[in-house]
Amino acid sequence: MKAIILCAGMAKRLYPLTVTMPKHLIPVANKPILFYGLEAIRDVGVTEVGIVVGATRKDIEAAVGNGDKWGLRITYIPQENPQGLAHAVKISRNFLQEEPFIMYLGDNLLKEGLNSFADNFNKNKPNALILLYEVSNPSQFGIAIVENGQVKKVMEKPKNPPTNLALVGAYIFDHTIYEAIDAIKPSARGELEITDAIEYLIENGFVVEPHHVSGWWKDTGRPEDIIEANRFILDGIKTDIHGQIKGKSQIVGRVAIETGTEIIDSIVRGPVAIGKNCKIINSFVGPYTSIGDGVVLENSEIEHSVMMGNSSIRNIDGRIDNSLLGRNVKVNKIEAKPHVYKLIHGDNSSTELP
Ligand code: G1P
Repeated sequence: MKAIILCAGMAKRLYPLTVTMPKHLIPVANKPILFYGLEAIRDVGVTEVGIVVGATRKDIEAAVGNGDKWGLRITYIPQENPQGLAHAVKISRNFLQEEPFIMYLGDNLLKEGLNSFADNFNKNKPNALILLYEVSNPSQFGIAIVENGQVKKVMEKPKNPPTNLALVGAYIFDHTIYEAIDAIKPSARGELEITDAIEYLIENGFVVEPHHVSGWWKDTGRPEDIIEANRFILDGIKTDIHGQIKGKSQIVGRVAIETGTEIIDSIVRGPVAIGKNCKIINSFVGPYTSIGDGVVLENSEIEHSVMMGNSSIRNIDGRIDNSLLGRNVKVNKIEAKPHVYKLIHGDNSSTELP
């Protein structure tokens, strides 16, 4: 079995973060989202992986390289325009040949990985195995109707969803999917939808089986999804402290701190992950916070947030909560008069003040 990971999407819902980095490389618990997917695929025993890339290519290639780090052999498959998930499969056919393959959306996170999913496919050998998860907002996903353990119908983001069973961004297909993709037409959003190709399989008598996610699943399309995914991953973190704890500092609960980081006169209350070469001075880092490399936190408080590399927060009075900060972001208090809010934001940034 081979695998393709789809990483061509522009991720407009994560602007301005994704203007300078693909969403697949946004860190969750200080590890790029895509790396969790690569690990899940490696753990299934797959070694040949195609990554479908668009404008994301340069950054993804720089981060993943040839896959040696995971024992994988990576092939990059260019998709020039975002023409849909089914189109991505179509252009990957040369790489995939005729054998069954895992298709994985590079912005998805699954606690349990893909092992039982792949085992299920190998046992039953359906034409397609789809992964399902109960959600509270089904109109934002592909949706499946399941009866007596068989998938009866799938539809892409219906206005009035008949079930709350969302299609998770991991699928296993055999070669019959190519016939389905050749038969479908672009959807209202102008894309070849993989959901429509799966519906073609069902309508034409091919076997499409469901597999239900145990554990949690997260599609990291929006800022609040990244913060929630960060909380899920940090829930499983172990204490692992390499930095230095100085002065009156207190480390409480499960906290990972990497080398070169100094915690000075500060409270860190886990679960928390702090990267390399950070300075946390006279500050509070609360539960479910990830802090990237080279961050400075001084006389400030933060919790339930993701702060990426080389950013700094200094002398802020209130506690920063539920926030997502990119790289090289500076948040400072103005000491001089007048006491005003001074904001230099890129397009689509957002700030909420008390
Ligand atoms: C895509 C699929 C959708 C699926 C979702 C899972 O949606 O089209 O069926 O439920 O991924 O992440 P998109 O994220 O491209 O809007």
